[in-house]
Amino acid sequence: MHVTLACAVATEILSIASADLSQPFRAQSHRTQGSCRCFRRVVIPSEHCSSHWHSVDRSLSNNPLYSISASAFTGLTALTYLSLSDCYLTSIPSNAFADLPALISLFLSWNQITSFPADAFTGLTVLSALQLNSNNITSIPDGAFTDLTQLTYLSLLNNQITTVSANAFTGLTALTYLYLTNNLFTTVPPSVFAGLTALKTLMLSRNPITSISADAFTGLSALTSL
Ligand SMILES: *[C@@H]1O[C@H](CO)[C@@H](O)[C@H](O)[C@H]1NC(C)=O
Repeated sequence: MHVTLACAVATEILSIASADLSQPFRAQSHRTQGSCRCFRRVVIPSEHCSSHWHSVDRSLSNNPLYSISASAFTGLTALTYLSLSDCYLTSIPSNAFADLPALISLFLSWNQITSFPADAFTGLTVLSALQLNSNNITSIPDGAFTDLTQLTYLSLLNNQITTVSANAFTGLTALTYLYLTNNLFTTVPPSVFAGLTALKTLMLSRNPITSISADAFTGLSALTSL
C-alpha cells in the first residue's frame, strides 16, 4: 500500500518513505478513523506527525512541485481525514480521491493549484468539508462538485477565479458555508446558487464585482449571512 505523492525530483526518497510508512495504515485498516498529512515528500499517517514534525525543514527554498499519483490512496477505504495543504501541488488528477469513500474532510489549501477537472472529486459522497482556499484556481468546471451531496463547507477564498459559471455548484444540496472571498470575478450570473437550498453563509467580498444578475440569489431560502 503506497501512500505517497509522486515527485519528479525525489522519487528514490519517496519510495523508501512509502515502504516505511505503509505498515501503520495496513495495521489500522479495520478502523473507521484515519488521517494523512503531507510533509514535503511524503504523506505521513497522523500517528507519526509529532515525531516527524520537527525534523522537516519547511523553510527550504526552491521546493519542487508535486502531483498526486493515480493510485496514491488505493486501499485507504476507512480514511476520514486527508490534509494535502502546503504540498506544492499544481493540479488535481481525475478521480484523485475515488479510492477514499469514507473521507469526511479534505484539505488542499495553500498549494498552487491552477485548475482541476470536472471529475477531480468523484466518489466523495460523504465528504463534509473541502478546503481549496489559497491556491491559483482560475475557474470551476461545470458540475465539479455533483457527487458531494453531503458537503457542508466549501472554501474557495484567496484564489484567482475570474468567472463563476452557472453550473459550478450543482449538486451541493447540503452546503451550509460557501466562501468565495478575494477572487477576481466581476459578475454573479443568474441562478448560480439556485440548488444551494441549505446555504446559510455566502461570502463574496473582495471581488471586483460590477454587476449582479437580478436573480443571482434565487433559491437561497436558508441564507442568513451575505
Ligand atoms: C500562483 O500564484 C503565486 C502568486 O501570484 C505565484 O507566485 C505562483 O507562481 C503561482 N503558481 C502557479 C503554478 O501558477
